[in-house]
Amino acid sequence: MNVLYATSEAAPLIKTGGLADVSGALPAALRKIGIDCRVLIPGYPAVMYKLEATRQVARFDHFLDAKGKPLAARLLLSSMPGSGTPLYVLDAPSAFARGGGPYSDSEGLDYPDNAHRFALLSQVAALLAGAESPLDWRPDILHCNDWQTGLAPAYLRLSGSTTPAVITVHNLAYQGIFPPETVTELNLPAHAFSIEGIEYYGNLSFLKAGLYYANHITTVSPSYALEIQQPYLGMGMQGLLASRQNQLSGILNGIDTDEWNPSADPHLPSQFSARALSGKKTCKHKLQEELGLEPLADAPLFGMIARMTHQKGLDLVLAVADGIIDRGGQIAFLGTGEKSIESAVTALVELHPGQVAAKIGYNESLSHRIEAGSDIFLMPSLFEPCGLNQMYSMRYGSLPIVHATGGLRDTVEDGVTGFVFYQPTPHALWLAVERALDLYAQKPAWKKLMQAGMSRDFSWEKSALAYQALYRELLPEPLPEPD
Ligand code: ADP
Ligand code: GLC
Repeated sequence: MNVLYATSEAAPLIKTGGLADVSGALPAALRKIGIDCRVLIPGYPAVMYKLEATRQVARFDHFLDAKGKPLAARLLLSSMPGSGTPLYVLDAPSAFARGGGPYSDSEGLDYPDNAHRFALLSQVAALLAGAESPLDWRPDILHCNDWQTGLAPAYLRLSGSTTPAVITVHNLAYQGIFPPETVTELNLPAHAFSIEGIEYYGNLSFLKAGLYYANHITTVSPSYALEIQQPYLGMGMQGLLASRQNQLSGILNGIDTDEWNPSADPHLPSQFSARALSGKKTCKHKLQEELGLEPLADAPLFGMIARMTHQKGLDLVLAVADGIIDRGGQIAFLGTGEKSIESAVTALVELHPGQVAAKIGYNESLSHRIEAGSDIFLMPSLFEPCGLNQMYSMRYGSLPIVHATGGLRDTVEDGVTGFVFYQPTPHALWLAVERALDLYAQKPAWKKLMQAGMSRDFSWEKSALAYQALYRELLPEPLPEPD
């Protein structure tokens, strides 16, 4: 079975969040179970620099830029560093060779031509999955991810192709909404701009297009698949999602257990495992030193790594921070995002130097050291489609405190591998923090929870098998079962 996995980011090439982790690991896990999964990704500078051998496999001259002018685009075949997953890179310099991030400039402002940039990616994905593909390799399934490739199922279906398309929703909060006049600029037929199509409250929505035209919708946890059919977390799409509930399912993300392995992690000053925990003490001590926290071995150290957005519940953490410090705790933040949240976190550090530390920015290596060096991991997200950090933290013996939502609800077991609270309020979070602090004082009980979390299996294999089963259901002729 051949699967084209279209994505706007993939680790280790380019990453802004969990989508990149998934796009790096899932295709490799699918290949391990015999699926020829190949990734399609834009040729951002970060991607182009990191590629080793590349070979041009197609040229396109019929796509237009935001000014309506033909743009130069070609497709390169390369492979993902590390896993070796075959990689199709869409090299279109006028769309993707920019100095900032994949979606926004260095000031954090969205690129004004994002609709055209990601419509281009979506059109190429649809082309490669359809009868007009310039490649010999043909996918049996097109697998798209989030709004950036949401138009691909629309282009595919509107071109008359019957290749099944899957769209995975990693986060319904980002919907790719653009003004109605964009429709004609993006080479989409006017008749598709309706409720039964790509229209969303008078605008064009890339994500809605995917949700409408894909044969199947997945989300990254079973709980989130239910939550998004309700007004509270449906973000306006709940009606469509509920109407498609028979083609909607949740498949929990895994984690890359090679990349996130405390017993062989090159980012750590000392390695450790569930059976040999002493290295974790060294990690904590070194982390305190690195971040300028007081070197107190017994102070419960709380870690938090997150995009600093409303979703991640930083307000809740700020509301309980004084309580944590009063009880002798320390907090280490790593993240970047909305300026108002960054400033509030920085102000907290200024009030409590030695007890609170924050690195505002993106730092992959430090993220590993925070997981390893902290005792408790804070993840009070208001909503969380899956969440990866809670799984990393369990594997690193840092007990997560999570709000019971989405993938957090599906991965953390209260009182067994972490602490779960049920209302997104400071009070509920505080009660969970108190429970954690009380247990932290009872060393044998604490160790038991750490070891329970560390021995949970969050590897990708199970998820890959679930995707395989889904792909098989979507194929017109079921393939024979493997031996
Ligand atoms: P989301 O995709 O919503 O941001 P996830 O928990 O699924 O949330 O994934 C976030 C990923 O990004 C994790 O791998 C996390 O470690 C990483 N991450 C987030 N912010 C930072 C940062 N400032 N520095 C390093 N890694 C980060
Ligand atoms: C999104 C979600 C996160 C999920 C990630 C990968 O960014 O916010 O919960 O883990 O995608 O699927």
